Order: sequence, then C-alpha cells, then structure tokens
Amino acid sequence: MNNFTYSIPTVIHFGRGQLHHLSELKQSGSRVLLVYGGGSIKRSGLYDEAVKILTDSGLSITELSGVEPNPRIESVRRGAELCKANNIDMVLAIGGGSTIDCAKVVAAGACYDGDPWELVLDGSKIKAALPVYSVLTLSATGSEMDKYAVISDLSKNEKWGTGSDLVKPVMSVLDPTYTFTVSPKQTAAGTADMMSHTFENYFTNVRGAELQGNLCEAVLKTCIKYGPIALAEPENYDARANLMWAGSLAINGLLKGGAEVGWCVHPMEHELSAFYDITHGEGLAILTPVWMRFVLKNYPSKTAQLASYGRNVWNLSGEDSEVANKAVEKTAEFFFDTMKMPANLRAVGITEKVHFEEMAEKAAAGCEDSFVPLTKEDIISIFDAAF
Ligand code: NZQ
Ligand code: ZN
Repeated sequence: MNNFTYSIPTVIHFGRGQLHHLSELKQSGSRVLLVYGGGSIKRSGLYDEAVKILTDSGLSITELSGVEPNPRIESVRRGAELCKANNIDMVLAIGGGSTIDCAKVVAAGACYDGDPWELVLDGSKIKAALPVYSVLTLSATGSEMDKYAVISDLSKNEKWGTGSDLVKPVMSVLDPTYTFTVSPKQTAAGTADMMSHTFENYFTNVRGAELQGNLCEAVLKTCIKYGPIALAEPENYDARANLMWAGSLAINGLLKGGAEVGWCVHPMEHELSAFYDITHGEGLAILTPVWMRFVLKNYPSKTAQLASYGRNVWNLSGEDSEVANKAVEKTAEFFFDTMKMPANLRAVGITEKVHFEEMAEKAAAGCEDSFVPLTKEDIISIFDAAF
C-alpha cells in the first residue's frame, strides 16, 4: 500500500429533514450566492424551503441560476462577477454535480483577478476561495464531498477537471428524498458514474491495498443492488439513500488513498462530452465494457484482477479467463439491459467519427499512468469499438 494523506473537512448531514442545517451558513458571513440549475429545485419545492431557512437566518441572497448540465465557463464567469459585485461571503450550490462544480469554481473565481478559465486549466492557481456549501439533489459525481470541479468551454470543445482542497465543501446536506424526482435516465447515468469512479480506483497496479479493494467491491455491489430498485421505485428511500452515500464514498479519497492509479475512462468520456455535450454517466457506461475488453485482449497479465472482480462482485466461478470475460459481459448487461442505458455512441447522437483522432490525442495525455497505458491509437480503437 502507498503512503497517503486523507483529509475530508466536509461535514455531512445525511437523511430526511436535514435542510435546517442551512442556518449554520451564518458562520461564514451574511451574504450568500445561491447557485442552481435549470429549475428542478423550484419544481420540487426545495428552492422555497431553502430560501426560507436562509432568510429566517438573516442571510441575504444573490442568485446564479440556469447552470447547465456540463457546466459552462460562461456561467462560472457570471457567478464570479456576481460575487465580486455583491461582496458575497459564501457560495451555496443546490443541485447535481454540475451545479456544485460550477459553484466551486465561482468560489475560487471570486478570489482571483484573472479569468476563471485559468483556474480550470490549472488548479494550483487556486490560492483562495469563498466557503462552498451544497445541498445534493442527484447521486452521481461525489462533488458534494470532493475537491474536483469539471467545467466546459464548448466554443473550444474543451472540458477539463480542476481541483483544490480550498473548494471542498464546508458542509453538504444529503437528503435522499431530494433525489426521488430524478428521472430514470439521470438515475441510471448517476449510478454508472459512481460505478466508474469505483472502477477507476479498483483497477490499480498498487499491491497490498486490500481494504481499499474490498471497499470498492462493496460500493459496486451496492450500486448493482440499488440502481435497479431506484429505477423501478423512484421513491424507495433505502435505494436512494444507499446510492447517495455510495456516490460520495466512491470519489472522496477513501477508495483511492494508498492505491493510487491514473484514471483513463474519465479522460476518454470528457472528450465525448466536450465535443458532443452528452450526459457524463452515459458516456462512461458505453466506454467501460469496451475498455475492459481492450484490457483483457491486450494485457493478459490483468486477467486475474478482472476475474477477482467477477468472483467478488458478480459471484461468478470458474477459470480466470472465463470469469473475467463473463464479468465484462455482466457489466455491459447491467448498464444496457438492467439500467436501460444507451449502449453505443450512435445511441447518444454521436454519428460521425471525424473528431476521434483529436479527441483521442487529448484523452491520451490523461491516461499515461493508468491501469494499462493507453496511446492515442488505443483510444481511437476504443472509440471505434464503442461506436
Ligand atoms: O438543472 P436542473 O433543473 O437542476 O436539472 C438537472 C439536470 O438537468 C437534473 N436534476 C438534478 N437533480 C434533480 C434533477 N432533476 C429532477 N430531480 C432532481 N432532484 O439532472 C440533470 C443533470 O444534472 P447534473 O448536475 O448535470 O448531473 P450530474 O450530477 O451527473 O453532474 C454531471 C457533471 O459533473 C461532472 C460531469 O463531467 C458533468 O459535467 N463530474 C464531476 C465530478 C466531480 N466534481 O468530482 C466527477 C465526475 O466524474 C464528473 O466528471
Ligand atoms: Zn464521473
């Protein structure tokens, strides 16, 4: 196991009826920037509830609304300007990962003299940030408990992740009932996203990090059990609660610390969203089985690790090679049959291959230290197989 430092300063208030903790925002000042998306929080009534608690607590509210899925740098710039113009003390995101990610870079942009896009390209330029708070409404990204934010500039077909300890939320409210209204499409995409975060940590070259591997398997089994239940019964509290907590644990460093490995399916997916603005979790679901098949075909030395996955997560038995191959097919079946997700790139509207080379070149830069190294040509072959 590698050496590691583990620090999660985010206070989590988990469960029904925890929204009242928003009154604690006054510890950070009196002026809040409230960040939200396209209106789901207004339709559910959460917006009214939150505004009442904030105003009853003596906080004044400025709003940044309309944050897009795959949040754009234009929204971040608007938010940072609002903070500067209104002397904002803290940023509160209410929504999914896109809203929280946007809020994080807004919080950093508020304390930065240059263009916030510079902070997206280089997280080490984040030297200060306003305190970030969140109320999560979609289980997926783990942004509610991590240091990352992913922002797009679609005018340049660019989508990059940045990160800083300074933007880890101070406090996040995780009430599973707020996810009852999440659509089947986003429920499936969110489940695929947290599973992908887990796979990215699980398939590591570090030896001896057995606990982390066992924790990964527990998160995967939880998603495999509760994802379909949440689809069939959107208001099943235990299904929504287990998914919500799985999403946070998948990326908050618990599974990664001591078992570090470069992620590679994510850099490939970020190129798909950068060029075609697709839903992140759908892109991951399409790429994951294709990537697993690529590993099995080209790196026989990795067969045993995929076989362990098959035995411990899918209860398969038999020879390594048979179990490993079956595990990949189980993964594909889970995403495409059980969770009813689109199974290839054409199904999410990517009907041409013209950008594959450029996308692969950019993704390859992020896949250097991954479980198996991926060259530009390897990634083109993975995109081709996913097409
Ligand atoms: O905008 P509103 O109206 O709120 O609607 C959203 C949006 O249309 C809707 N939604 C959210 N909560 C809902 C709801 N609809 C009904 N009821 C609710 N309770 O769902 C749609 C998608 O929301 P979004 O926030 O975009 O989804 P998600 O949480 O999956 O976030 C995806 C973004 O996060 C990035 C992705 O790349 C993508 O840009 N990621 C962030 C990471 C991080 N910060 O660590 C890591 C991830 O790997 C990922 O890259
Ligand atoms: Zn992800």
